[in-house]
Amino acid sequence: MVSKKVLVIDDEPEIRTSISKMLENIGNYDVSQADGYNQGVTLLKRRDFDFVICDYYLEEAPELSDPAHEGRRIALDLLDFLKESNISTNFIVISGQADAAKGFETLLQGAAEYLPKPVTKRHLQFVLHRVERYLELEHQNRLLRKNIEDRFSFSNIIAKSPAMERIFEVIDKVKDYKTTVLITGESGTGKELVAKALHYNSIRKDRPFVAVNCGGIPENLLESEFFGHVKGAFTDAVRSKKGLFQEADGGTIFLDELGDLPMPLQVKLLRVLQDQEIRPVGSNESIKVDVRVVAATAKDLGRLVRKGEFREDLYYRINVLTIVIPPLRERLDDVRLLVDHFIEKYNKEIAPRRVLGVSPEAMQLILEYRWPGNVRELENVIERAMVLTDGDYIQVEDLPSELRIIDEGDESVPADHGLGELSLSIKKNARILEKRLIKRALLKTGGNKTKAAHMLEISLPALLYKIKDYKISV
Ligand SMILES: Nc1ncnc2c1ncn2[C@@H]1O[C@H](COP(=O)(O)OP(=O)(O)OP(=O)(O)O)[C@@H](O)[C@H]1O
Ligand SMILES: [Mg+2]
Repeated sequence: MVSKKVLVIDDEPEIRTSISKMLENIGNYDVSQADGYNQGVTLLKRRDFDFVICDYYLEEAPELSDPAHEGRRIALDLLDFLKESNISTNFIVISGQADAAKGFETLLQGAAEYLPKPVTKRHLQFVLHRVERYLELEHQNRLLRKNIEDRFSFSNIIAKSPAMERIFEVIDKVKDYKTTVLITGESGTGKELVAKALHYNSIRKDRPFVAVNCGGIPENLLESEFFGHVKGAFTDAVRSKKGLFQEADGGTIFLDELGDLPMPLQVKLLRVLQDQEIRPVGSNESIKVDVRVVAATAKDLGRLVRKGEFREDLYYRINVLTIVIPPLRERLDDVRLLVDHFIEKYNKEIAPRRVLGVSPEAMQLILEYRWPGNVRELENVIERAMVLTDGDYIQVEDLPSELRIIDEGDESVPADHGLGELSLSIKKNARILEKRLIKRALLKTGGNKTKAAHMLEISLPALLYKIKDYKISV
């Protein structure tokens, strides 16, 4: 461990020496000494110190007690010097019992700790450890923050498809505005990830990101969860409570599954969005809040509006800026990248074993699958396959059965009288096979229809007809 550098400044040589001895005794301190302000300043300019332990009165005989005496320097002067010169260190001030108030004043001016005279080893050790502990916590806090920021930075959203690139651009453009953002997309497409990227890349990143699942809180508790309540607002309200909007003050509130928000709360949310203030349950006073609202839904809000389940006015208020995350099956570039990413991720967990990749046949199935659970499902499938596989590469048999059976979405294989067996109809199965072959050829050729037709050994018009007939998206 590197020893910490300490500068002891006191005009009394005995005290300096005694403190220096104590420090050496406590261990791991590299001690320098100065006899007053001037020598202290010289040393501080020359090198960095982790700590400065400094007497309150400097450069004067202690019996001179007139603080206004010219030429007299005090610890505060040294603090001023540190501030002006932008030198950062941890300043510990020593003062006599009678001068406790002065010592305290030094704390107010930026000293880290105050040490009363006579200085004992026990006190000194305690004070140093307290500062060190604080510094360590501060350091950890910084690391954690950095970690969180990194985790939700763009680099953490694994994507290279043009659709996702556009989403990154939108995030970048709107991140610092207070405009409400609505994120839509199927389950597991990364809505929450995008919401966090918006927050952690914005000027609000040092303030809270509060996520609420609108469908996950009982309706009768929702209002108080959102806006808080005052004491006695209802039977169980024995004390007042802050709502989530207040907790998110200065930051972002993420309203997940907004489509599940009950009607009465929709009215109240609309009011908050319009007035930027909330009213706790049972209170007749409003509180200003500065919260950016990001909402997400897997449901089609427009349809809910038409069905009368979502307020139209709120819909228009929320739907100012919508980020639509396409389903994974429409982002094949991302699938490949995500597969590599998750293999990398789980390789760390299953170490020392390593999976190198996915066999071409297994990759084919992964690319053809519908992924109704999107990225979340893909991650689970890769994790499972990595545990199951014996070799270096994930094989077809390591994939769950959903990927291996012929799955054509709504055009699934006709089962035989509910027995769950494959239909033996040549006609039906031929169509399914044909569709798979076409999709595969299109995948292989990156959507080039001429090349695909060539591979399939059919004419281009025949291919175009079949693409239309089978409703294949290209
Ligand atoms: N592009 C991506 N890169 C890396 N991980 C992703 C990506 N998209 C989603 N994920 C991961 O997939 C999982 C699901 O993402 P998230 O929770 O953001 O989805 P969601 O759209 O909110 O889903 P739901 O509708 O089910 O709440 C998370 O573990 C997330 O980290
Ligand atoms: Mg979610």
